[in-house]
Amino acid sequence: MTQEKTSVLQVRDLRIQYGTPAGAVRAVDGIDFELYSGETLGLVGESGCGKSTAVMGILQLVSPPGQIVGGEVLLSGQNLLDLSERDVRRLRWQKLSLIPQGAMNSLNPTMKVCDQIKDVIIEHTGERNRGKLRERALELLSMVGLPARTYNMFPHELSGGMKQRVCIAIAIALNPTVIIADESTSALDVIVQRVVAQTLLDVKERLGVSMIMIGHDMGLMSQMVDRIVVMYAGKIVEIASVDELFAHPKHPYTQLMIDAVPSLKEHKPLKIIEGITHDPRHPPPGCIFHLRCPFVMDRCIREAPAMQSTSDMQRVACHLYDKETQEEARQSNV
Ligand SMILES: Nc1ncnc2c1ncn2[C@@H]1O[C@H](COP(=O)(O)OP(=O)(O)OP(=O)(O)O)[C@@H](O)[C@H]1O
Ligand code: SF4
Ligand SMILES: [Mg+2]
Repeated sequence: MTQEKTSVLQVRDLRIQYGTPAGAVRAVDGIDFELYSGETLGLVGESGCGKSTAVMGILQLVSPPGQIVGGEVLLSGQNLLDLSERDVRRLRWQKLSLIPQGAMNSLNPTMKVCDQIKDVIIEHTGERNRGKLRERALELLSMVGLPARTYNMFPHELSGGMKQRVCIAIAIALNPTVIIADESTSALDVIVQRVVAQTLLDVKERLGVSMIMIGHDMGLMSQMVDRIVVMYAGKIVEIASVDELFAHPKHPYTQLMIDAVPSLKEHKPLKIIEGITHDPRHPPPGCIFHLRCPFVMDRCIREAPAMQSTSDMQRVACHLYDKETQEEARQSNV
């Protein structure tokens, strides 16, 4: 999948802050990653690490007190952060489509499913032909595995899994090239989670699009995505293919997260990792993880580690993989 390595979306040094009376929260603090054509990229990390803020930043949907303070989001080479609000609005849905966190609860309870789907198509394409709108809405429902009768139903008549699929149908209504699904399955029970996640992947394959999938459940992620981006406190600490990440997790935080998954067949949310979490308005100097890291060294407290490649499919931000550290370890073993 990632061997072709055609990048469709590149995020460069994206920084987003929330202003608060007690100081700015650096919710996204200089993240860099790329999404390749046709791949599913997982974005994981504990609650509050900045996953939703990052994708809202990509779509320029950050609202006050949040503010994008720097970086680039390149879609087919064009920096979305340079575009006018009007141009970005046009790109949303048509190129980049978001299924936001809690999307199923944001369906309009007073509108039938068909009207909610048609509204998006009308707003973004101007299509008014009733027959064509009906045909397209029915096609979309079928693509997400919903029966035609769903067309005339109201959200309260649907189960959680069905509502989430309606949200997927709305998100793909304009044939986007990138779909971003923010915790699309986490409010559902385990079996429905799997079915909805599979629906997302089926749709992705059928449309030949690329997808960013945000989630807490490492077990489910490991079976759904091609590569994983691990975030901690607004920063990316590791990026790797699923195989590399589970076979050889490099960052101590990734290792702890994977240890917290009892079995890849048993899905459960991340276990809380021991240690002191810092105040997000006052991140510590050096490595962002040093207050909780079991391997902390003097250098970690002074210097922030740079992202470095440990193989073709793996990058990590940790001093354990610096040449100096490796050399010291080698010397002490001699
Ligand atoms: N409106 C806001 N005002 C101030 N701080 C905010 C606001 N929204 C988010 N934050 C802070 O930004 C940081 C990142 O939040 P974000 O919602 O992006 O995390 P997340 O990884 O999506 O978490 P979750 O897994 O719970 O959805 C957190 O420290 C959060 O408290
Ligand atoms: S840089 Fe140091 S503190 Fe940070 S994760 Fe690596 S070993 Fe731990
Ligand atoms: Mg979130």
